[in-house]
Amino acid sequence: MQSPFSSVRVAVVGAGIGRAHVEGYLAAGAKVAVICDLDAPRARALAAKHGISPRIETDFSLVLSDENVDAISICTPNSLHAPMAIEAMRAGKNVLCEKPLATNAEDAQAIADCARETGRVCMVSQVLRFRDDVLELKRRAGETGEIYYARAVSRRRSGIPKWGGWFTQNELSGGGPLIDTGVHTLDLAWWLAGCPVPLAASATSYAKFGPHKHHLGAGGAGNENGVFDVEDLAAGLVRFAGGFSIHFEASWAINAERDERFCHLHGTKGALLWEDEPKIVDEDGEIETLQSRAGSAWKREMEHFLGCVRSGETPDPDATQGATMMRILDALYQSAREEREVAI
Ligand SMILES: NC(=O)c1ccc[n+]([C@@H]2O[C@H](COP(=O)([O-])OP(=O)(O)OC[C@H]3O[C@@H](n4cnc5c(N)ncnc54)[C@H](O)[C@@H]3O)[C@@H](O)[C@H]2O)c1
Repeated sequence: MQSPFSSVRVAVVGAGIGRAHVEGYLAAGAKVAVICDLDAPRARALAAKHGISPRIETDFSLVLSDENVDAISICTPNSLHAPMAIEAMRAGKNVLCEKPLATNAEDAQAIADCARETGRVCMVSQVLRFRDDVLELKRRAGETGEIYYARAVSRRRSGIPKWGGWFTQNELSGGGPLIDTGVHTLDLAWWLAGCPVPLAASATSYAKFGPHKHHLGAGGAGNENGVFDVEDLAAGLVRFAGGFSIHFEASWAINAERDERFCHLHGTKGALLWEDEPKIVDEDGEIETLQSRAGSAWKREMEHFLGCVRSGETPDPDATQGATMMRILDALYQSAREEREVAI
């Protein structure tokens, strides 16, 4: 059967996690018309892996001027998200931008404003929202009564990415594990709770290992002579309207037994537990382990984005949600710097 998206032509910019976007688009039946990366061999290798022959570009401006491109996935370092997303929408393209939407709330808001002004679709790639176990938890969130408290943990024991490359330079990344991996679980907790309005943030952050090149991830150092000026651990609390709160931790480096990633939401009638084996717990403590784990989250994410491109509907998450998340992250970083709670 012909895919409803076979006429949508996309460009993927950045061939790192861009590989998952290419996979998702192909699975959804869209045409990957262009892969753009400063590193042309990396872009070519990605195309070859999938047996496709898109145009390979190293110059983003040539993607913008290509009238055959309807939508662009932005999978470049964080500091390029805002300039690229804004230029793309001004050139008439729809945008799927990797998380975090930007490196600060002001830039993220500029993206959201541009989406409104141009009428283009602008979605943030928060792929966890498209996992089938997460979708099942979301469908059943009502069973847990009033959700009032969540814990969101994204703990890597030894996982500093590409030390000295863009990830560990504040100017290019906007921060360390909080903005990198923490944003996934924070966003998940926030979304499962219905995206309440954030009120205040309180955090601490540390850099005990990064500056000494300890606890590097599997890829080792990206640039031995580079910079590490971000946190390697952040922890804290975000308060929301209505009393809901998220207690979080995000680390790239910590002395601990193992890596952990989970998001627990606690309600008056039960709990939603997203972890290795997602579960729903009722008020009597009865545990139901969710079984379904089928299908690709990336395919589902791309189908949602492509559907919005075709219909003009607002994607979930849109740039406004991404900008709200950036205000939360900005406030958390400010709180850690100033050692006080910060209003959002
Ligand atoms: N959703 C997820 O699970 C997930 C996972 C990994 C990364 N990410 C996000 O994706 C983005 C990229 O991360 P990554 O791990 O792929 O990084 P990466 O460094 O592996 O890849 C980034 C690529 O962008 C290319 N690039 C840089 N500047 C460019 C430009 N001006 N024009 C064209 N290409 C350019 C680089 O050459 C590089 O190949 C980040 O925002 C990151 O937060 C998301």
